[in-house]
Amino acid sequence: MTTIDEVLGLEQKTEELPPLGRPHVKKHPTETGLVEIENVSVEFGGQVRVVEDASLTVNPGEFICLLGPSGCGKSTLMNCVAGFVRPSMGSVKVDGEEIFKPGQDRGMVFQHHSLFPWKTVKENVAFGPLMAKKGRTEAESIARTLINMVGLSAYENRFPNVLSGGMKQRVGIARALANYPNVLLMDEPFGALDAQTRSMMQENLLQIWGEFGTTVIFVTHDIDEAVFLADRVVVMSASPGRLIADIPVGLPRPRTAEMVLDSVYVETKRMCMEYIRSESLRAFAKQSMH
Ligand SMILES: Nc1ncnc2c1ncn2[C@@H]1O[C@H](COP(=O)(O)OP(=O)(O)O)[C@@H](O)[C@H]1O
Ligand SMILES: [Mg+2]
Repeated sequence: MTTIDEVLGLEQKTEELPPLGRPHVKKHPTETGLVEIENVSVEFGGQVRVVEDASLTVNPGEFICLLGPSGCGKSTLMNCVAGFVRPSMGSVKVDGEEIFKPGQDRGMVFQHHSLFPWKTVKENVAFGPLMAKKGRTEAESIARTLINMVGLSAYENRFPNVLSGGMKQRVGIARALANYPNVLLMDEPFGALDAQTRSMMQENLLQIWGEFGTTVIFVTHDIDEAVFLADRVVVMSASPGRLIADIPVGLPRPRTAEMVLDSVYVETKRMCMEYIRSESLRAFAKQSMH
């Protein structure tokens, strides 16, 4: 029979997550990581409008969840911040600089891991710092720090194929943080994980974020995930995606699993559900008209 620890990828259960605030982790000054999305529209092929007039300011160190129904343009808007997609109109600035291409100031984590299968966990995480012209010793030291932070020290010399889905995503997070980005962009990073692993990953992510102070933009279609993680939940409408609500989450930090029973949590979730439900119904009605 499979044990719960195996399901959670917790084979090394004696290893505690490292304590917060260790001195060798570079905490970002909270002046960096300002994201300004101004009147962004995206059209593909010059005609299909996917994102419509999106404006959003994310403050340094803030944790924002971008919530919306599938296909509404969340990844497209996120990819404008990443520099993979150029807006057809409007602009995206990070720390005052307009974004034209990907850069080390922005780390990305995707739904499906994108680790190099021929590199070990440590080599995968050290890859970014090496590309940034860090020496091998420094790159490996950074990699070890981050691998420790995501609780995978016992696996640093293993290859991705021996890791569970959750563990691979933890390596993905370590890798995205290895260049100490000002902004961490996460596109449904836990979407393919089972519920228990996902909830553990969410807590681990918040712990790491608490330590780094990096701005996070986290895309999800899962209302519970958005409310549990975010300082603000920004709701996107069905296609073409517009930003229709900006809902502050008045829950204290650190967030704990019991908070899902808190009346503030329930009320915030209810508000999000109303927006999402009306948008999903609208999308459904629109699809049936064609
Ligand atoms: N490169 C592209 N070319 C044409 N259409 C695209 C491209 N990327 C995304 N789309 C379309 O844009 C819409 C929004 O996609 P996406 O941003 O991936 O939505 P979400 O992440 O919210 O599920 C979808 O209808 C998708 O098919
Ligand atoms: Mg997407």
